[in-house]
Amino acid sequence: MLKNNPQAELKMKNEKVKNKVRFFGFAFLVFTFTFASACRYDMQDQPRYKYYKKSDFFADGRASRDLPEGTVSRGNLRDDKAFYTGKLANPNPNVAAPAAQTATDASGNTLVTTFPDAIAKIPVPVTKELIDRGQERYNIYCIVCHGPVGNGDGMIVRRGYPKPPTYHDDRLRNAPDGHFFDVITNGWGKMNSYAHQVSVADRWAIVAYIRALQVSQTPNANAAMTTNRAANTNAAPSAVSPANAPAANTNTQGGTR
Ligand code: HEC
Repeated sequence: MLKNNPQAELKMKNEKVKNKVRFFGFAFLVFTFTFASACRYDMQDQPRYKYYKKSDFFADGRASRDLPEGTVSRGNLRDDKAFYTGKLANPNPNVAAPAAQTATDASGNTLVTTFPDAIAKIPVPVTKELIDRGQERYNIYCIVCHGPVGNGDGMIVRRGYPKPPTYHDDRLRNAPDGHFFDVITNGWGKMNSYAHQVSVADRWAIVAYIRALQVSQTPNANAAMTTNRAANTNAAPSAVSPANAPAANTNTQGGTR
C-alpha cells in the first residue's frame, strides 16, 4: 500500500537523494585526494625555462631575454679607464689623439715608437707582492715566447715561432706602462691577446715584473722603473724591490733566479 501512501513515497525519494549526495560526496573526496594532490607544485619544482630553451611566448621564440642595454653587473662598472684599459682619458672625444710615430728596424719591420694614448705609470701601488705575482704570471703566460729575462728567446721561439722583440731596447724601455698593458689586453702584431687568460690586476702585475726585468738587464743605464710613486706612497717601501735600488743592482748576467 506504499503506492497509495504519498508521505511514505516522499520519504523514500528523500532517502534516495541523500544516498546520491553521500555517494558523490565520497567520490569527490576520493578524487581530490588521489588526483588533485598530485597536481600541486612543490617549491623546489618551480616551472621555469632553461637557458636557450625554446619558448612560444616571445616573438623571437627564445626563452632567454637580452639584458637591457647598458646593464652593468654589480662591481663591474669599470669606470676607471686607466686601470681597465691602460689608456689616457680623452678629454675631448672630437679631437683625435696624436698619431703614433713609427720607425723601421734593420730587418725592415715597422716599429711603433710612440704611444700617445697610453698611461705613463702603473695605476696601482707597485709593491714587492705585485712584482712577485707578476713574475709568477709571466712565467706561466709569457716566458714560453719572451724567455726568462725577456730577450725573446723562449722555448716556442727556439722551435720556430716568430721571435718577439727584446724588452731591453730603448724603444720598449722608454715605452709607457700602459703600452705593455695594452699589448697583453689586445695583442700586438703576431702576438695574441691574453685578456682571457690574465685578469686586469694580473696584467699590471706582469707590467711591473717586466719593468723589474728591464732594470735587471740594464742596471747602469739609469733605466727608469716607472713606478707610480704617487700611488705608491701608501705602501711601505720594500728594501728588495728593484724600484728602490736600481743602481745597486750590478748583475749583468741576466737575473738572479
Ligand atoms: C706565443 C708567443 C707569445 C706569448 C706567449 C707572448 N708573446 Fe708577447 N709577443 C710575441 C711576438 C711574436 C711579439 C712580436 C709581435 C709583432 O711585433 O708582430 C710579441 C710582442 C710583445 C711585446 C712588444 C710590443 C711592441 O711594442 O713591439 C710585448 C710588450 C709583449 N709581447 C708582452 C707579452 C706579455 C706580457 C706576455 C704574457 C702575458 C706575452 N707577450 C706573451 C709572442 C708572444
